[in-house]
Amino acid sequence: MSVFDAVAPQFDRHRALPDAAARAVRAAVLATLPVRPRVLDLGAGSGRIGWPFVHAQDDYVGVDLSFGMVQAFRQRCASAALVQADGCALPFADRAFDGVLLVQIFGGLKKWRTLIDETVRVLRPQGALLLGRTRTPDGGSDARMKRQLDLILNGNAPPAETGNARALAELHLEERAATVSDIDAATWDATRTPRDFIDRHGGGARFSRLPADVRARALRQLADWAVRQFGSLDARFPEKHRFTLRVFTFER
Ligand SMILES: C[S@@+](CC[C@H](N)C(=O)[O-])C[C@H]1O[C@@H](n2cnc3c(N)ncnc32)[C@H](O)[C@@H]1O
Repeated sequence: MSVFDAVAPQFDRHRALPDAAARAVRAAVLATLPVRPRVLDLGAGSGRIGWPFVHAQDDYVGVDLSFGMVQAFRQRCASAALVQADGCALPFADRAFDGVLLVQIFGGLKKWRTLIDETVRVLRPQGALLLGRTRTPDGGSDARMKRQLDLILNGNAPPAETGNARALAELHLEERAATVSDIDAATWDATRTPRDFIDRHGGGARFSRLPADVRARALRQLADWAVRQFGSLDARFPEKHRFTLRVFTFER
């Protein structure tokens, strides 16, 4: 069982990516790799990033630990090549892929070093590992809500190692890679409300690991804070969102 099984049905509703942005991410990924590359999307989830690759009949394989997520992806794209497997023990030969895509997979992941070792193992020598993520503006309502939720949950304690796995994994990759480059793959207009943030985090996989009473209390406190700050849970904030790719290559 994965914590993502329970959130799979709502995942896309809360983390929607405009179709044009998903297509632009595919184009950016393909532009960094050799012609007709073999691409592994590790932690492919419900296919939010992967569907344009499947529609274009690219040589694409999606892997996810969560059966629920694999099912959600299959419902979206019946013809997708999908494998339910742990990224820490990939069922593929060494040097099987030209590109491995990791999009928002590290949140709360304890064995991120093993997962990176596996990713590098299945990459061809000329291949690239691509770390993708959505970036929201620092001063935007989402960022402020997130900071407040962190304060409510952790006070002023430094984030736990697992909570900050993405940043640690990125540092580790920077040290290990031969080259690192950044790509702005897509930009779009989004509208956020405090209520969206609360709905999204209330059903989020990482948050769902906390005891139910802690979650309920934290969300109540966050809602009270948001009403004081923004006037209403339904206050609307237009924001520019970006999808960035950090590309790592390894000399071997
Ligand atoms: C936040 S979701 C992101 C999904 C997708 N990459 C996207 O951006 O839409 C993280 C995904 O990583 C998967 N995942 C987490 N740990 C994993 C592991 N060890 N092996 C494979 N998949 C994993 C989860 O099941 C989940 O589907």
